[in-house]
Amino acid sequence: MIWTITFILSALLAVFVFFTGTTRRKNEPPLDKGYIPWLGHAIHLGKDAAKFLAQMKKKHGDIFTVHVAGRNVTVLLDPHSYDAVVMESSSKLDFNKYAHLLMKRIFDLQLPDHDSVEEKATMKMYLQAEHLELLNIRMQSNLCSHLLSVLNGHNHMWKEDGLLHFCYSTMFCCGYLTLFGNEAYPETSSFASQSADVYKEFRKFDELLMKIVRASLTFGEKKEVRGIKERLCDLLSSSRLGAKLNQSSWLKNYRLHLVKQGVNEEMLRRAMILQLWATQGNTGPAAFWLMVMLLKHPDALTALKDELKTFVKPTNDRQDPNAFLQSVSEVIRGCTPILDSTLNETLRMTAAPFITREILQNMTLTMADGQQYNLKKGERICLFPYLSPQMDPEVHYEPEKFKYNRFLNQDGSPKTDFFKGDKKLKYSSMPWGAGRNICVGRQFAINSIKQFIFIMLMAFDVELCDSEASLPEVDVSRYGFGMLQPKKDIKIRYRLKIKNFT
Ligand code: HEM
Repeated sequence: MIWTITFILSALLAVFVFFTGTTRRKNEPPLDKGYIPWLGHAIHLGKDAAKFLAQMKKKHGDIFTVHVAGRNVTVLLDPHSYDAVVMESSSKLDFNKYAHLLMKRIFDLQLPDHDSVEEKATMKMYLQAEHLELLNIRMQSNLCSHLLSVLNGHNHMWKEDGLLHFCYSTMFCCGYLTLFGNEAYPETSSFASQSADVYKEFRKFDELLMKIVRASLTFGEKKEVRGIKERLCDLLSSSRLGAKLNQSSWLKNYRLHLVKQGVNEEMLRRAMILQLWATQGNTGPAAFWLMVMLLKHPDALTALKDELKTFVKPTNDRQDPNAFLQSVSEVIRGCTPILDSTLNETLRMTAAPFITREILQNMTLTMADGQQYNLKKGERICLFPYLSPQMDPEVHYEPEKFKYNRFLNQDGSPKTDFFKGDKKLKYSSMPWGAGRNICVGRQFAINSIKQFIFIMLMAFDVELCDSEASLPEVDVSRYGFGMLQPKKDIKIRYRLKIKNFT
């Protein structure tokens, strides 16, 4: 009897030690397996990654490995050491393998193995220089047409909407039309409906995204997702896209590239949903946070309006109907330190992507302090810049407070010097990632947000319906997936205040 009890207790102890142990072989980051076999820390991570990783950092320091749904993921939280990951060669730390896994899980998309370096270089080229200029022009004209169509003739009367809905649908519809093309006939009458249909389906998909990623959809939701994907595939079919006007060189070339690789129509359509997500999933929420921060911080709003006013051309309404559009163009070419700082501050507080890489071969990671760690082939490494540097009190004083001038020096010039442990940081905020896989669409995204904010502050009156309403809480389940979103929307009212708005 005593032997049986001893045996059971030893077995239980062995299981406990196996699943809760934090030790590892020499020079490997400490491993925290969690209490649940196979799942490990998946539930905590999915519930609120920022809170969970902050607890792990307290327990283990700037580098540790956590077991998550059958995989070991090493988390690195020292911003001085981020270059060791983001600048590492893709033969060692690979962006694409994990991206492909997500593509399969989220979009049922399987593309042939390809030269991603060449693909990325092409994409980058079509989002720069003269191509970017053209995108900017189309975006501002789409923004004006979209806002006019939303006002529906009642230009100078107050209209109410949820701020997230207003910003997301506006940025999405206009970004989509700019990159994917306008409807051929007639351009204006179907302007609102065609992009609004795509937005409606995309938004339903976006709301279920976290459950798709974590494979936690209910039976009913799985059916719903299948329906949404079918409708999106239909809206993004080759025949529909082929009939569009002003399609961006970026999209044309991406489609051509896939066709050359022998990708069939079904996969082409799914690839279009992926691109819709990559290009439109973050800009709307970013515009939302920027607007809400301005509406809740009158000092920031006043300073920004004063800066933007200098770009508005003094004009006689009847003389030059395009004067306002010209001012919009100038704001993205001009010097706007207050707008830049306000946007940087907003992104610091609300951009929270994981920067994840697949470890393709056993390797040694050297931290900024010289400490070396062995990383194992087949595991993953992940940075979470939201925790540090973005919300790190050592880097940004009172990080939970919005300060529109945080990224400005005393003399009003852009501030780039931030420190941690007395050492200057290369990255004080990383909303766009960094290094080899930095966001190729960042300049287009920044320009689009600036155009939107300029139009809203200079051509419209905008206010919160309830001026006492508090800043919306963050949906904590979205940590790790790009821009955060609020748990609930917040009501605004807006009306056109200028006459020469075209
Ligand atoms: C506020 C808006 C946006 C944010 C916050 C954002 C953020 C990011 C981040 C953090 C990454 C890097 C992921 C990593 O290193 O693991 C990334 C990659 C990427 N982004 Fe964006 N993005 C935005 C808008 C856009 C837009 C408008 C486009 C295209 C027009 C775009 C295209 C891409 C592409 C193609 C990649 C993959 C780069 C690669 O393959 O190396 N993004 N984005």
